[in-house]
Amino acid sequence: MGKIDSHPRTTVTSAAVADDRVVVAWADGHQSRFHGIWLRHNCACPACGTSESAMRALRIDAIPDDIVPQTVEIDDDGGVEIVWPGDGHVSRYAAAWLRDNCYSDAERARRRWHPTCWGPEVAADPPQVDFETARNDDVARLAFLENLRDYGFALVNDVPADPEATVDIAALAGPLRVTNYGSVYDFRYTPTPLVYGDSEVGLNPHTDEPYRQAPPSITLFHFVKAAARGGESILVDTFRVGRILRAQDPEAFDLLAHQRVTFHRRLEEQDRDFRMQAPVYSLDDQGQIAGFRLLDRAVGPLHLDDTLMVPYYRALKKLLVMLFDEANQLRIPVATGQALFFNNQRVQHGRTAFDVGSDRYMRTCHVELDEFYSSLRTLSARLGTEGVNMVLPAGALV
Ligand SMILES: [Fe+2]
Ligand SMILES: [Zn+2]
Repeated sequence: MGKIDSHPRTTVTSAAVADDRVVVAWADGHQSRFHGIWLRHNCACPACGTSESAMRALRIDAIPDDIVPQTVEIDDDGGVEIVWPGDGHVSRYAAAWLRDNCYSDAERARRRWHPTCWGPEVAADPPQVDFETARNDDVARLAFLENLRDYGFALVNDVPADPEATVDIAALAGPLRVTNYGSVYDFRYTPTPLVYGDSEVGLNPHTDEPYRQAPPSITLFHFVKAAARGGESILVDTFRVGRILRAQDPEAFDLLAHQRVTFHRRLEEQDRDFRMQAPVYSLDDQGQIAGFRLLDRAVGPLHLDDTLMVPYYRALKKLLVMLFDEANQLRIPVATGQALFFNNQRVQHGRTAFDVGSDRYMRTCHVELDEFYSSLRTLSARLGTEGVNMVLPAGALV
């Protein structure tokens, strides 16, 4: 604060009322048009308070719809100063804040996140980082978090092959989420498994716990001991597959995005009964894919309209054929001392069968999507990168 920013994007060249808007012109040629009510609402002076803290004395319901400033000027800091009619209240807006919150079509589009979609070819150059580097170097850690955001997965190399290290590795992404499995769950081969993960069989790609309102999102697989033979990780970018299906068969995609499946899980021994009705693909307000959930083994009885039943099964089968097709799958032989992060609300995971003699030991835990996003924002802000204001997908919400 106190210095005029010399960057053209955040340099105000003029500010005035025109056509019932406050029109702000910028040195890069962009023009922002703010409503009076929007500006009055966003006054963050000590009397009004801030929305970030929710310590707010200003009431939205007390602002007239058609409020127009009495005067608008560029202030000494290069921001905009407004005096309001009636009580003469004074509001000041920093130039960078105004530009970051400009709601023109162009600026809203600029703030939108776009996934980096990938297929098996990403095996040649997968997003990865060395554990100690990510832990000690903020720039490397931000690059890792951005990769996890954009690709939906990232590998961490040279992690300790020690079960005590799992929580420290997860901390790269944020604090842990506690589920019915506790906060860290051990996958170890046993001849009498209660979950498929503890057996040696191959697992088709799936997402975990789709029967929860918010399925786990950022998931860590920490390989304390990889299988001697087999047990390769399989990953599928469901956003990429969804785009392909949408282009090939829009009706099938629409069914998967708008009709709800009941996913369920009954845990007798814990006396729990989870059920969630949700679409396989979640879309955002622009119709773009924002999230995904599908564990084909946990799809319960469908309760669809009579006319939709057969078309829905056709669409679901078509999608499963694509997801189970090796041409859409990344296979990574994750080794002892490696860790894999993925977003379970986008990326499906599976594994090939492994050799039962190999004493495979994997630990897993989760970080909530909003905690992960929070880690990204605070680190972006500290390093002064633009990602801090990116509008990120809400995930597999209905
Ligand atoms: Fe799983
Ligand atoms: Zn105020």
